[in-house]
Amino acid sequence: MRQKMVAGNWKMNGTTNSARELISGIKAGLDGPSAEVVVCPPFVYIPTVATEIAGSAIKLAAQNMCDKDVGAFTGEISGPMLKDSGCEYVILAHSERRAMFGETDEVAARKYAAALNNNLKPIFCIGETLGEREQDITEDVIARQIDAIINAEGVASLANAVIAYEPVWAIGTGKTATPDQAQNVHAFIRQRVANLDAGIAESLRILYGGSMNPGNAADLIAQPDIDGGLIGGASLKADDFLAIINAAG
Ligand code: 13P
Repeated sequence: MRQKMVAGNWKMNGTTNSARELISGIKAGLDGPSAEVVVCPPFVYIPTVATEIAGSAIKLAAQNMCDKDVGAFTGEISGPMLKDSGCEYVILAHSERRAMFGETDEVAARKYAAALNNNLKPIFCIGETLGEREQDITEDVIARQIDAIINAEGVASLANAVIAYEPVWAIGTGKTATPDQAQNVHAFIRQRVANLDAGIAESLRILYGGSMNPGNAADLIAQPDIDGGLIGGASLKADDFLAIINAAG
């Protein structure tokens, strides 16, 4: 039985005060959730959030990391630093990083390896653009993106990772994939992993991301291969985030 996960990707939003308020609102409303709850603040707020969540069930993730552990890489943040700061997870290969910061499958695979080497669990993002969906190549794109990490690190590495399926056309657009559309891709991902290792596939958590909100979360998460959500905009409001956590629990 896979434990559901609800992760809030705050992206580049907030202040020290708003981060504190958001965590205190989430803590106040958490009611022994059965889903695993993760927050992913911007790097600079990680220490603040780590302090605020201490003693609660909320877990901490970063939104990105460098593929190198230490050295002359101005402006970068390493896996050892994230581990040292209390992160258990790290989002990797988000479509915003792929589209705006030139992260190729190869870069993504290097970061994935670095995360695992540092005992950080990747929340590895994959997803097709609208153009790719319209060309009917969604499965080709998804296969290429997941194969990039399987070929580099082996299928067994997925035992310590989470996959997030985020159709690019659904991110921040208010256009959510229908439960059927999302389920079809999630099932495709699980089957691709199962072709190599049925046990790993069965335990692999696959989150949906893309305009998930309190109104659509329950129907999405009720699908057999959707194990929770990676939430952007709705994770910035404690009430909405809590409602999604409850929908998953
Ligand atoms: P939205 O929920 O704002 O669409 O963002 C989804 C996302 O990109 C989470 O990583």
